[in-house]
Amino acid sequence: MEEISSFLIKIRTTTNSFLSQYEPLLLLITPLLVLFFTFNLQSFFNFVQDKGLKPTLIGFFMTSIKFIPGVNNHIEAEKQKVVDKLQSGSKSKRDGWMTELPKAGLGGGVIEKLRDEKGNDVVWQGKCSGTVYIGGSESEGHFSVINEAYTMFSHTNPLHQDVFQSVVRFEGEVVAMTAALLGSKEKACGGEICGNMTSGGTESILLAVKSSRDYMKTKKGITKPEMIIPESAHSAYDKAAQYFNIKLWRVPVNKEYQADVKAIRRFINKNTILVCFNYIVLLPPIDCIPEIIKLDY
Ligand SMILES: Cc1ncc(COP(=O)(O)O)c(C=O)c1O
Repeated sequence: MEEISSFLIKIRTTTNSFLSQYEPLLLLITPLLVLFFTFNLQSFFNFVQDKGLKPTLIGFFMTSIKFIPGVNNHIEAEKQKVVDKLQSGSKSKRDGWMTELPKAGLGGGVIEKLRDEKGNDVVWQGKCSGTVYIGGSESEGHFSVINEAYTMFSHTNPLHQDVFQSVVRFEGEVVAMTAALLGSKEKACGGEICGNMTSGGTESILLAVKSSRDYMKTKKGITKPEMIIPESAHSAYDKAAQYFNIKLWRVPVNKEYQADVKAIRRFINKNTILVCFNYIVLLPPIDCIPEIIKLDY
């Protein structure tokens, strides 16, 4: 015990005599500076890890040039010009728009009014890829069959399975057919396929991303999920990333809208829960799907 005590006293004496050559103020400030520097370095590395090196450097450059006198004012003035231009365009379009619930209902003329408004829409039928995936005219063929069916079932609620048995059956059949397309009849799948009907593309993407996040959490214990998507992918993936707390990496696409496989490979890591590739509806090129599938994650 005595030996330990004399050893500690010796260390204390040596340390004090070593530090006595420095100013007390310096001894106080140095650890604070080291703490400050370490904290900033760690924030920088976290930022690079979060956003990637290139966006970090660009962000740093953009922030730095704002310190040059006059540059910040110039940027703000240019921004304001763009905002003013955007707002002046939409203001005139909004003339006459209702901004409050009318005191009296619109009455029997409402359908006529709706028809008038619809007349302002662009004629898109069969002409605008990425809007509505159906060709032809509303009064004939596939288009009118869909309209009739939609009208027939617009007042249903599939949550009430005992009341709307027809809808329950349709949903079950659509899920089974989709599952069959994805290989539910094959032995390897184990027969454990389930699903539900969604209201459109966005909800389908949201549910697919959430399912993947939850599956990867259970299967691989991933608690900080990340996903990789081509920059041309639908904005529903951005929504999914925000709703479900998933880090999103966007990779460039080439002229044929095919995702850059090398970039995907670079972003894949132990937290990757999903890689998305494009299937451009109505356009021939499809992503390099076989190459992407081969990637290990
Ligand atoms: C490829 C793709 N994904 C998702 C969506 C979103 O679909 P929705 O508008 O039905 O939510 C669209 C719709 O344009 C789409 O084209």
